Amino acid sequence: MKKAIITTSIVVLVILAAIYFFPFNGESGENEGTKTQNRTQTNSIKLPDPVITGGMPLMEALQNRKSSRTFSDKKIELQMLSDLLWAANGVNRKESGKRTAPTANDTRALDVYVIMEDGTYLFNPDEHSIEKISDKDLREFAGRQDFVKKAPVNLIYVSDYSKLKSGSEKEIYSGSHAGFIGQNVYLFCASAGLNTVIRAWVDKDVLKKEMNLKEDQYIILAQTVGFPE
Ligand SMILES: Cc1cc2nc3c(=O)[nH]c(=O)nc-3n(C[C@H](O)[C@H](O)[C@H](O)COP(=O)(O)O)c2cc1C
Repeated sequence: MKKAIITTSIVVLVILAAIYFFPFNGESGENEGTKTQNRTQTNSIKLPDPVITGGMPLMEALQNRKSSRTFSDKKIELQMLSDLLWAANGVNRKESGKRTAPTANDTRALDVYVIMEDGTYLFNPDEHSIEKISDKDLREFAGRQDFVKKAPVNLIYVSDYSKLKSGSEKEIYSGSHAGFIGQNVYLFCASAGLNTVIRAWVDKDVLKKEMNLKEDQYIILAQTVGFPE
């Protein structure tokens, strides 16, 4: 009798251990934190180091800066995307994490999202990486002009109002932050032989929904980038 009780107890313990270590949903017995970390790692693409030497002399880039609305569907390679995003809002002082574009009180309240054919990404300046937030091609929601759907890259400038103080600051500062980044992109494009145009003509409510943004996140402007046709 005693032997039977011991055997049954061992069997029960083995079954409980198996359930703990091999849950039936196919995931390992890791905690939530580890799972989130892995998911982030899986969705995150480390960009090659940006090439921060060379390029067109600044005065020539200013002379060539312009809005263009014709784009070929040629893709932008990862190195060029890396350079573009670094120019837009990358870290240019590693010791402080400060960026190529200024922000009020160093709030860093403006995020750059990248809409491409294969999905939508959030640029992480600190890691110099992009993190996929959607597998869908959201270009059809990225603007009301036809070229938006054809161009390979649409940058979406999203302000996080929770990082800004109340009142008019939120709107004024958000517009300024997007403007600085937009001009960085204009100058990079002039130097790199890319076409670009900054855009306000976006159905922001629809795009916000499609991008699954939080209540406190507001789309300020978009900017299309691609090769000339
Ligand atoms: C805040 C802002 C919003 C704009 N919105 C649009 C837009 O929705 N669509 C567009 O084609 N151009 C847009 N533009 C680009 C302007 O039309 C363009 O800058 C202007 O015609 C001057 O041309 P340039 O940039 O070549 O100097 C916008 C520019 C700014 C600054």
